[in-house]
Order: sequence, then structure tokens, then C-alpha cells
Amino acid sequence: MSSLTDRVILITGAGRGQGLAHAEAAAASGAIVQMTDVDGERGEKEANRLRTAGLDATFHHLDVSDAQEWTTVVTDVIDRHGRIDGLVNNAGISLGGTVLDTTPEIWNAVIGVNQVGVWLGMATVAPHMVDARSGAIVNIASTLGKFASEVSFAYQATKGAVRMMSKSAALALGRHGIRVNTILPGLVDTDFIAKQKAAGAIDQSVGRIPIGRIGEPAEISEAVLFLLSDGASYISGAELVVDGGLIAGSTGSLKSKVDPK
Ligand SMILES: NC(=O)c1ccc[n+]([C@@H]2O[C@H](COP(=O)([O-])OP(=O)(O)OC[C@H]3O[C@@H](n4cnc5c(N)ncnc54)[C@H](O)[C@@H]3O)[C@@H](O)[C@H]2O)c1
Repeated sequence: MSSLTDRVILITGAGRGQGLAHAEAAAASGAIVQMTDVDGERGEKEANRLRTAGLDATFHHLDVSDAQEWTTVVTDVIDRHGRIDGLVNNAGISLGGTVLDTTPEIWNAVIGVNQVGVWLGMATVAPHMVDARSGAIVNIASTLGKFASEVSFAYQATKGAVRMMSKSAALALGRHGIRVNTILPGLVDTDFIAKQKAAGAIDQSVGRIPIGRIGEPAEISEAVLFLLSDGASYISGAELVVDGGLIAGSTGSLKSKVDPK
């Protein structure tokens, strides 16, 4: 895989979980990593840990749903480094509820982070990539943006939206030398699924994953790094599913193992 040596990469939600794994992997690959998160204490602590390990990582407080904060952070990075080569829109939240019990508060909160946040990220960073005539954007959706479940109605709305936002952006930005791609993780072992884990729901789902286990954050990082790198120079508007095979077949009612022939 191509390295990310000296590439300036901005990652949202990098204080823990997958975003932190992406930050660590990108920095280990030579990138100048700009870690951002709404959780400032945790983000600072993790960026310090990476710097102590000899990696190039800087933390910025950023609530992705706040346009003003995006402008402040991006201006700061441009002032310091003159460019942003890669953007990973990773921050996300999930608040449950079916179509019947999703409140306006839940809806607005989830849309604000997962959908508005991705839009603001692309809208704030892409003009600088246009000036540089190069850049790579990776947006994190979910297998739940492609196949539905009854619960997490608002979450699925945002993840479906991220897929189409990425494709539309890929069409608009390609001529400026910018690639935009989407990753659809399946179940990944982070705090994000802690509640389901505690309720035993993950153990039930594992039986439906062909590889037979949930994923590790670092396994998603491999895909993120590839799409950021020159190794993916002819890939744009694409969706990369990283789910251990979960959605390769039917996720719904066709559970029979009897061969219909
Ligand atoms: N874990 C999974 O099984 C799974 C599966 C599919 C997709 N995803 C997606 O992967 C991404 C990363 O999730 P994760 O598993 O690392 O979850 P996580 O909960 O461990 O981490 C999410 C991070 O986002 C940050 N964040 C939350 N709101 C924010 C905001 N307003 N502004 C900036 N940062 C904010 C949190 O502080 C946290 O550091 C999310 O977009 C999520 O929807 C996760």
C-alpha cells in the first residue's frame, strides 16, 4: 500500500474507537494527522499518547455539527500546513427508535452529527483541496445505510444519506483532482456497540457474519488508509463494505440453509 508520508489528514471523531484507530494508522504511515473530536479531554490525551510514541498528531476540538467550529479548525490547519490532503468524516452517533418512537430531539441530534457533520466537513475542506487540485475524502457510512433494521430509524436515514452525498460530491469534485469514497463498516468492536454487547445482541449477530466475528477498528483503518492513498488513485464515488461478509447475502427473512435446487 502507498504510504501517507507528509500527507495532512484531518479525522473527525478521533478521540476513541475507529477514528482513533484511523489516526494512529495514518500517523504510523507517515501522515501529519489532525485529530478532532467533541470530547476534548479524551482527544488531547490520545494525541499526546501518539506524539509520545513519535507520531505526528495534533488535536483540535471540533463538534462536527457546528459550522463555525469547522471554519476555525480548518483555518488553523491551513495556516499551519498550507493544505489538507485527506479528510475522514468518521464522527457518528446512534440514538435508537423506530419510525414510531423517534422524537424530533433524536432526529435532529442524529442528523446534526452524522449527516450535517459530513456535509460541513466536505463543504469546509473541499475548497482548499480545489485550490490544491488534489485531495481524498473518505466518509464513514454503515451497512445500516444499505440494509434496514426496525430500530435506529434516524441513524439509518443519515447513513443512507452519506452514501449519496459522497457520490454527488465525487461527481462535483473529480474534475478538481479530488476523490470521494464511502466505507460501510459492519459491526465493529467499539464503545458504539457497548449497549448491544451488554444485552447479548452482538453474540446473536455474530452467527450471521460469514467470517464469524465482529471487526476490529484497525481492520476498518486498513480500508480508510487505502482510499486516502495514491493506491486508490482511480477510485472515486465507490463504496467499500468492510463487514466480514455480513451483507453479502440476505440480511432478512431468507435464513434457510436448504438449497432450493
Ligand atoms: N461500531 C460499529 O459497529 C459501527 C458500524 C458501522 C458504522 N459505524 C460508524 O463508524 C463511525 C465511528 O464509530 P465508532 O464505532 O468509532 O464509535 P465511537 O462511539 O466509539 O466513537 C465515535 C466518536 O465520535 C465522537 N463524536 C460524537 N459526536 C461528535 C460530534 N458532534 N462531533 C465530533 N465528534 C463526535 C465521539 O466523541 C467519539 O470519539 C461512526 O460514524 C459510526 O456511525 C460504527
